[in-house]
Amino acid sequence: MSIAEDFTPALLARAEGAPLDPPPQYAQLRREAPITRVSMWGGRVRPWLITRWEDARAVLGSPAVSSDSTRPGFPSSTAGAAAMPPGYFFAHDDPAHDLFRRALTREFMVKRIEALREPTTQIFERLLDGMVGSSTSADFVEAVALPLPSLVICELLGVPYEDHDFFQSHSADLISTAATGAEKAAAHQALGDYLERLVHDRRRAPKDDLVSRLAAHVDAGTFSVRDAADVGAFLLFAGHETTANMIGLGVLALLEHPDQLRSLYAGKAELANAVEELLRYLTIAHTGLSRVATEDITIGHVTIRAGDGVIVMLNSANRDAGVFSDADELDLARSNARQHVAFGYGIHQCLGQPLARMELQIVLPGVFARLPGLRIEAGRKVEFKQTSAAYGPSVMSVTW
Ligand code: HEM
Repeated sequence: MSIAEDFTPALLARAEGAPLDPPPQYAQLRREAPITRVSMWGGRVRPWLITRWEDARAVLGSPAVSSDSTRPGFPSSTAGAAAMPPGYFFAHDDPAHDLFRRALTREFMVKRIEALREPTTQIFERLLDGMVGSSTSADFVEAVALPLPSLVICELLGVPYEDHDFFQSHSADLISTAATGAEKAAAHQALGDYLERLVHDRRRAPKDDLVSRLAAHVDAGTFSVRDAADVGAFLLFAGHETTANMIGLGVLALLEHPDQLRSLYAGKAELANAVEELLRYLTIAHTGLSRVATEDITIGHVTIRAGDGVIVMLNSANRDAGVFSDADELDLARSNARQHVAFGYGIHQCLGQPLARMELQIVLPGVFARLPGLRIEAGRKVEFKQTSAAYGPSVMSVTW
């Protein structure tokens, strides 16, 4: 069955034996039907699928698309989806979206993120010490990739050190593939309640941290305590699993491309560029970005009508040979790697990208510098999250 006839989540899964590549059907769509209607969930929803880079940017950059999943026509597995709380601003349009995005813009500016470089390096070294200290093999995902981003988000928000374990263990439950629905709901509730208490504390006694600045917005009447706590929870949701997956998958991609890893050490590829290329090549947001048109939009020869759903496949756009030569090759020295759309495009483009970049620039070279013999443990398979919105390894047993 072709993608157009049945675009089920199963088809989104990566091809057997090629876990770093998107399904091969996308290459055919880019050539033959780059903007095409697909059938989802038994034909109940028929969004447009966008597979080329240029069209992806045109759709995501258009003011005539909405991210509001409650609008009729929005591609969603359940009809009549409930609205996300305002603090989860990725699911809202301007001006509601802009209110929160603006409140956070300064938090992700270079100077603030640079201030997190040293604490992030220390967190990384500590986690690596823990991994190598007690054994000769370990699950890299559990030991390093998963805890690191949530501990960095603790630093970003200003969660006190003594609460890091609480924060980290509940955020791990939130994205664990082993946790039940009830366990995830309990973790969500516990983190929400915790963040609400933290906002209250910071209103009474402000510090120099992100939660205190959100608390100041509450005092100024910009938004409520609940909204401020939701923003904190959303940052965790947006920045934890994504970065964890990118760390795990990035390490795996470098292990599978030893020539590229060597090029990094020989100085033939610059670190920042290498990270961009890994983001392009791996595109962990592999289920695409969903939108609904609010007005008619013409892209190329196709008119997407107001009310039509759209899914923009970032993983396909990032393998578009019209933009990236030898697009299916990992080339850490690629000159235009930064043109990728792994962080999306347009008004919702990833706010946390400077933080994600900084974490990857520390961890990826750091792991190999410390453990030059790092490899996947013989006889152990890497397991992947196939259906999750952010693709990556769920278990990756390594030895060194
Ligand atoms: C490698 C890691 C990451 C990847 C691949 C990634 C990817 C993305 C993508 C594709 C979007 C666009 C969603 C859309 O348009 O619907 C997005 C939005 C967002 N990301 Fe990230 N992200 C990463 C890490 C982070 C981190 C570390 C944070 C913060 C702690 C973060 C915070 C956000 C926020 C707040 C938004 C919503 C922006 C808006 O709606 O204006 N992300 N991310």
